[in-house]
Amino acid sequence: MENDKFKESFKYFKSRNPPPDLSLAIDIDGEKHQNVLCRLTVNTSLLSPSLSSILKSEWDVFQFQPCPGLILIRNPFTPLGQRYFMARCLQNYPIKNPTNLQTKNISLEKSSWWEELQEIKDPVAHKKLREDLRWTTLGYHHDWETKVYDEKMRNEFPADLEFLVKEIAKVMKFKEYQPEAAIVNYYPLNATLAGHVDYSEKCNEPLFSISLGQSACFLIGGETKDIKPHPLLLQSGDICIFTEQSRFAYHAVPKIIKIEEKVWNEDKNNETQSNSMNLPEYFDTKTVEIVQNSEQWKAFDDYVSLCRININVRQVFKDVDDQNFVNENKKMKT
Ligand code: SIN
Repeated sequence: MENDKFKESFKYFKSRNPPPDLSLAIDIDGEKHQNVLCRLTVNTSLLSPSLSSILKSEWDVFQFQPCPGLILIRNPFTPLGQRYFMARCLQNYPIKNPTNLQTKNISLEKSSWWEELQEIKDPVAHKKLREDLRWTTLGYHHDWETKVYDEKMRNEFPADLEFLVKEIAKVMKFKEYQPEAAIVNYYPLNATLAGHVDYSEKCNEPLFSISLGQSACFLIGGETKDIKPHPLLLQSGDICIFTEQSRFAYHAVPKIIKIEEKVWNEDKNNETQSNSMNLPEYFDTKTVEIVQNSEQWKAFDDYVSLCRININVRQVFKDVDDQNFVNENKKMKT
């Protein structure tokens, strides 16, 4: 393409030598970027009280003006909430779900990637296996070749993630949002994600994208690649919600940025016992215990200190009737 402004920006922010000027990236901080961020008022009292240890009660929510429909929530998670989802992405979600390890024919001796990673003491082999995992899919599995969701390729969507996203959707006033599919991306520091549009879903319901661990420079463009994209700085805990026009805009991750401060550990001096804590019934209490225990948390902390995780959640079908139709068909076939 002659006028590929998206590619130009991607190359600029991806470059290591010379490195990009990251001060050009917009930080989700209303004070610094008042000209492009418009603050939205949301009512977090709509949240289930059971989420009070996972999500904060006050959120900073902005509409990103240059890209209509893009909503940015600056880290609404408590440190515990971040650690919980980091651990779930590492220890649980890649089990029994498709991952790139299968497509790369990487076989494991242990029953899971995370378990095997813990066993490897050699630093070179450890780094290699740590960086081998690049994605897993949840719920309806996206077929990367055909770009369609196949009814035969479906596992149960994790109940904790479903509950979290539905609650956020409720606060944002998205009616009857149903999380049905997710892609969890794992990014080592040198990883990138090329420009693309997510159009496989059979509806245009919002896409929720949660960032965890290391920061990223994220590019959001327009309908075509000849529109120059805007660089955004995404930090651990940030949530982007792509609605309206932004739902079908080109986007990419040209750079992962190493950070020093670990916001996910900020409550560490003040450990609350999980049994005295308010937790949603769909949450895994074993994971909560692990992430509350400094010794057990250490391996997860090592991972997120070197990598970024992104969970992006989609509704696949237009409405509940569509899903019922699919489920009925499934029953008839089996
Ligand atoms: C994606 O577009 O699939 C992931 C975006 C991100 O990592 O922030």
